[in-house]
Amino acid sequence: MHASSALHADKHHERDSVMTKLRLAIIGAGPAGIYAADILLKAEREFDVSIDLFDQLPAPYGLVRYGVAPDHPRIKGIITALREVLDRGDIRIFGNVRYGTDITLDDLQKHYNAVIFATGAVHDAALGIPGIDLEGSYGAAEFVSWYDGHPDYPRTWPLDAEQVAVIGNGNVALDVARVLAKHADDLLPTEIPGNVYEGLKTSPVTDVHVFGRRGPTSVKFTPLELRELGELRDVDMILYDEDFDYDEHAREVIAGNKQVLVIDRVLQQWRQREVGQASRRLHLHFYAKPIGFVDDGEGRVGAIRYERTAPDGQGGVIGTGEIRELPVQAVYRAVGYFGSPLPGIPFDKRHGVIPNHEGQVLHTKDNTQFYGVYATGWIKRGPVGLIGHTKSDAMETVSHLINDLGNWWTPSDPSEAAIVELLRSRGVEYTNLDGWHNLDAHELALGEAEGRTRVKVVDRDEMVRVSNRPQ
Ligand SMILES: Cc1cc2nc3c(=O)[nH]c(=O)nc-3n(C[C@H](O)[C@H](O)[C@H](O)COP(=O)(O)OP(=O)(O)OC[C@H]3O[C@@H](n4cnc5c(N)ncnc54)[C@H](O)[C@@H]3O)c2cc1C
Ligand SMILES: NC(=O)c1ccc[n+]([C@@H]2O[C@H](COP(=O)([O-])OP(=O)(O)OC[C@H]3O[C@@H](n4cnc5c(N)ncnc54)[C@H](OP(=O)(O)O)[C@@H]3O)[C@@H](O)[C@H]2O)c1
Repeated sequence: MHASSALHADKHHERDSVMTKLRLAIIGAGPAGIYAADILLKAEREFDVSIDLFDQLPAPYGLVRYGVAPDHPRIKGIITALREVLDRGDIRIFGNVRYGTDITLDDLQKHYNAVIFATGAVHDAALGIPGIDLEGSYGAAEFVSWYDGHPDYPRTWPLDAEQVAVIGNGNVALDVARVLAKHADDLLPTEIPGNVYEGLKTSPVTDVHVFGRRGPTSVKFTPLELRELGELRDVDMILYDEDFDYDEHAREVIAGNKQVLVIDRVLQQWRQREVGQASRRLHLHFYAKPIGFVDDGEGRVGAIRYERTAPDGQGGVIGTGEIRELPVQAVYRAVGYFGSPLPGIPFDKRHGVIPNHEGQVLHTKDNTQFYGVYATGWIKRGPVGLIGHTKSDAMETVSHLINDLGNWWTPSDPSEAAIVELLRSRGVEYTNLDGWHNLDAHELALGEAEGRTRVKVVDRDEMVRVSNRPQ
């Protein structure tokens, strides 16, 4: 069957009772993994399939639960659509099961015909500049995990800085800057965990400085997310005239790209605003390339050192040699995420992805196909793109998976009971779909008691306990 015809959705496809039943494991229950399962189940194909979806966390949805900012309820609402897929009941879920420790590639080859890795990218990309290890230097991924209540991160966060720098001009940098600049009470109606509200409430922050190494027409963030900054209560937006002396290239980009045009309009409007009344300020510095963090003498960040850059006429920048310093007591590095290697699976260390051809995993040594192993989402393509992109990604991967049928593995025990027995024999306390419903109901009830939509359970053991308690 050809790839494109294989993907024509046909929910009511009459399955031939003599069709072979194949077993597929998907590792990672973020949007990429869930979409891949959904697309495969709806696709026209010449085999029956049963899918087991594993995640290291007790709850599904990946970065939609643990990355998307709590004050973006519309995006968090994508969980409703993902949940509808799971609620159909034709995908088995095993939460709190980590590939690499709780299950291995050997186990998967024994019990499944193929596997799709959809493990995303959860860590910060490295930034190799002096002072990176000083106290007060934080990765955005860590801070995001804290404010979104990820169970594997500390419950407390040191919010003692008055002046803060955020490095990067992507949407994560804006999320981090917004959460830092916002008054805690304005986040209270969201699903932030109680400890996060209490932590943010103590923050003495007055100035958040966002540093972009290129100019306003070369940013990676999007207009909607930028506009939101200008709507924060009691926060002035501060821009600097020296950053708006556009060259010919920048003017061409504004004229030829609607998104950049809107961004420029927003920035120009802010330049005209009266400032000075708010108790907090959010500064946007462009053409400012961080080159180091300065020790305050006690092992803490005392200032950020940066080089003023200038446009190179092609969208890039060149250093001007002019070095500046700005006193800050904390720095958040939002320079992108990076994927992690998975035991037994090829890994491209340079790009932080599983090497692949349109989702078919390739051996690192000779680029030949690693049969039976597929990748989708951020671990396939790198940490860029929106949740919606993981859907088209999954279609491409699933289409190859279907066409590769002849090259799938032949497991020695493909029974559905085998993996359950294996996990139990290893003492793995896994959660399932009913468990997620229990946790969801529990979090909603906690929220209702406080007049909020949801209060997240943060502790992993507590998540598992609530999920698995008899109803
Ligand atoms: C801070 C932040 C905010 C964002 N906000 C938005 C937004 O507002 N709108 C938008 O459209 N996009 C947003 N995005 C992008 C969006 O989150 C991604 O496009 C999307 O989540 C990628 O999906 P994924 O399934 O590939 O990875 P993930 O969502 O990261 O899911 C991967 C899953 O794999 C699991 N996993 C990892 N390793 C293992 C293992 N060894 N064993 C078992 N399970 C494992 C993880 O626990 C996780 O659940 C944001 C991204 C970030 C970082
Ligand atoms: N609300 C939303 O829709 C939302 C929210 C969060 C995330 N997301 C999405 O998630 C994806 C990841 O976002 P992201 O912000 O992590 O990554 P990103 O969009 O790739 O942005 C990374 C930023 O870091 C900068 N950077 C990289 N290395 C640097 C260095 N050494 N020094 C200084 N700056 C450096 C980049 O500058 P250069 O451009 O110069 O390289 C860029 O501005 C994106 O697709 C994003 O749109 C969406």
